[in-house]
Amino acid sequence: METLLIQGGAKLSGRVVVSGAKNAALPAIAAALLTGGTVNLSGVPSLDDIVTMCELLESVGVTVNRGPGCLSLNARGASAREASYSLVRRMRASFLIAGPMLARFGIARMPMPGGCAIGSRPIDLHLKAFSAMGAELSVESGYIEATAPKGLKSAHIYLDYPSVGATENAMMAAALVKGSTVLENAAREPEIVDLANLLTKMGAKVVGAGTGVIRIQGTDELEGANHVVIPDRIEAGTYMTAAAITKGDVILENVVPEHLTAVIAKLRELGAAVEAEESEIRVSSEGKPKAVDIKTMPYPGFPTDLQAQFMALLSLADGMSIITETVFENRFMHVDELTRMGAKIRIDGRAAVIEGVDDLSGAPVNATDLRAGAALVVAGLAANGDTEIVNIGHIDRGYEHIERKLNSLGANVVRRSVPKERKASAATAS
Ligand code: UD1
Repeated sequence: METLLIQGGAKLSGRVVVSGAKNAALPAIAAALLTGGTVNLSGVPSLDDIVTMCELLESVGVTVNRGPGCLSLNARGASAREASYSLVRRMRASFLIAGPMLARFGIARMPMPGGCAIGSRPIDLHLKAFSAMGAELSVESGYIEATAPKGLKSAHIYLDYPSVGATENAMMAAALVKGSTVLENAAREPEIVDLANLLTKMGAKVVGAGTGVIRIQGTDELEGANHVVIPDRIEAGTYMTAAAITKGDVILENVVPEHLTAVIAKLRELGAAVEAEESEIRVSSEGKPKAVDIKTMPYPGFPTDLQAQFMALLSLADGMSIITETVFENRFMHVDELTRMGAKIRIDGRAAVIEGVDDLSGAPVNATDLRAGAALVVAGLAANGDTEIVNIGHIDRGYEHIERKLNSLGANVVRRSVPKERKASAATAS
């Protein structure tokens, strides 16, 4: 079992290259199921979640060739096989193969998805979209079966909430259905636009991605395509908070500043200097951050995936900040761990009230989920003394070469193998 040991106190400085977006790569990989042609993806980060998605596709007959930062996927030999529970339970995004499977084979049989333990994460909106397109649904023994023996039909779909995954699943299914499907109250995230671009290259016509209304003109046969995945705005935002909390000066390369508008605004509000150019962002900071209030929202609002990292930063702010989490229930599991490092945070329903302290102190802590783990890394970089994070498998799901990238900016982060007993005692202590 591995841990990350962080010796806090170094000011980060230098340049770091942001990887391709995990959350854009995952649906792009799933989209390969829609065609017998070859989908070539580049800018694919080397992450555990990407490995899981590739294994899932292989398990239904897709040929996957892996190269550094790229994938070549061919689903000519894919068939209507049941998705394996052991793979799906590892990652909620596995459910993204349901739309393509249903559209291509007329049946998708999926275990209920797993993933980060951040509150109830239903899939009712995905299912409503499939059902609006004519699928019949049944749930049995933990499996969901969607069938459309005569094929799906184009539809007018209203999503009760702009769910990212439901929007992606519906878009992919609609791309392989003749006629025009309209998605209303669709998610507007940059990853949706990236998927629309890929589906367009594959032969569908997608209009309105990035707005609340997306129109997909599908076709009964899609082609292979070559596609470069967009940069990871959440990884970028994590390094931006790391620069700010260490009072450092960091330039991020391979970013799209427009994808980070809310994040840049909050960093400026709390006193950091942020300069944005075409594909670079520089973040520098001196002194204590000012307290600010944040409310997470669907894009273009402040991303829930950066809530925990900003909480780490605000735990050292001058004054009291309030962070309200509106996207997920129960996404405050990092609070107990940050508190163990000396932060003063109180939870009141969906809000966390953070009273800034002068110092954080290093401690053994537990990464309870992906972004909670990232927040502990950010906190550990600024803490006095050593922070050892256990359960870093969660962090590896979403951050490529995290210790290598941080150390190139001057941090002291070591990945250690520890015997199980030691891991157990650290976890108990946390
Ligand atoms: C995606 C991202 C995740 C991010 C989230 C919100 C991927 C692989 N993951 O997750 O990192 O945190 O967007 O920006 O892209 N909901 C329902 N019913 C549904 C679907 C969702 O009630 O059928 C609820 C969820 O429980 C949650 C909210 O909608 O409270 C947002 O979820 P959603 O946008 O679907 O997130 P994901 O696509 O799972």
